Amino acid sequence: MAKDVRFFELNTGAKIPSVGLGTWQAAPGVISDAIATAIQVGYRHIDCAQMYGNEKEIGSALKKLFDYGVVKREDLWITSKLWCTDHAPADVPKALDRTLQELKLDYLDLYLIHWPVSMKKGSIAYKPENLTLADIPSTWRAMEALYDSGKARAIGVSNFSSKKLGDLLEVARVPPAVNQVECHPSWQQPQLHAFCKSKGVHLSGYSPLAKGSRGTAYVVGDVLKNPVVNMIAEKLGKSPAQVALRWGIQMGHSVVPKSTSEARIKENYDVFDWSIPEDLFAKFSEIEQAKLVTGTPFVDKTFGTYKTIEELWDGEI
Ligand code: A2P
Repeated sequence: MAKDVRFFELNTGAKIPSVGLGTWQAAPGVISDAIATAIQVGYRHIDCAQMYGNEKEIGSALKKLFDYGVVKREDLWITSKLWCTDHAPADVPKALDRTLQELKLDYLDLYLIHWPVSMKKGSIAYKPENLTLADIPSTWRAMEALYDSGKARAIGVSNFSSKKLGDLLEVARVPPAVNQVECHPSWQQPQLHAFCKSKGVHLSGYSPLAKGSRGTAYVVGDVLKNPVVNMIAEKLGKSPAQVALRWGIQMGHSVVPKSTSEARIKENYDVFDWSIPEDLFAKFSEIEQAKLVTGTPFVDKTFGTYKTIEELWDGEI
């Protein structure tokens, strides 16, 4: 019998469901059906962000599910993220209120600083001149106030390197509960994984299928075409996507695969009553590593807090 990894306990004592539905690049027109399908299949965790531009539709879909008694608010885990244009302490509570209003909720289970990068208030384009100096400690103090208010039942960060997370832990009154970062078999982040574990910060993996907008040709980093992942999938009678997701949760990471297809939403949740045996699990160390999300638009020699990609990730790239 596979180990039960349906939830991971955070440093707040709350339990985050290990598989959540990702909503990045899910068009407003299709996200409602995806949410309804996911909830019916058993998902209890939805990963949102103001930046994804679809929180209003997600809110309407959730309201319908609550009104029809399909699921109760308290049985769901809803995450959202503070965008880079709202890092000024006075803007942080306003941004959360806007997200809550769009999602039609009165609290979030988890609110994350989306990137350790600040941008001019109200700016939309990824232009170097829209970057401003990040002051993470001040933004974090405003996040702590949201935690105190109960509107965000846990707070955390996203796209933080071990160094940036360590710096934040030095000044935090409320330690971050989660660091949500790119994580999949082709970007395993062993150093960050070990650091988070040692500090009691849960690592949540975004783009757990490393799909992004890659084409059909095999390139380093394409998890679903990776020969090791495919060999394991064949041996276990599972799909490459299921193997990639199961690897994440066996590592102790929650995963938030995005899909708007009914079949793939179901497939991605069918990862609990089986597991990858130790001998096959060891094979993941052979996979060549390649990062998908580099954060290039957030780096600039003149305007950026981080002048280079190396500085943004503190060498963890
Ligand atoms: P779709 O929405 O059509 O299912 P990630 O979350 O790692 O970034 O991956 C998201 C991408 O992977 C989306 O393009 C999604 O497309 C696709 N995808 C999601 N689940 C699967 C799956 N089980 N097999 C293949 N592709 C998938």
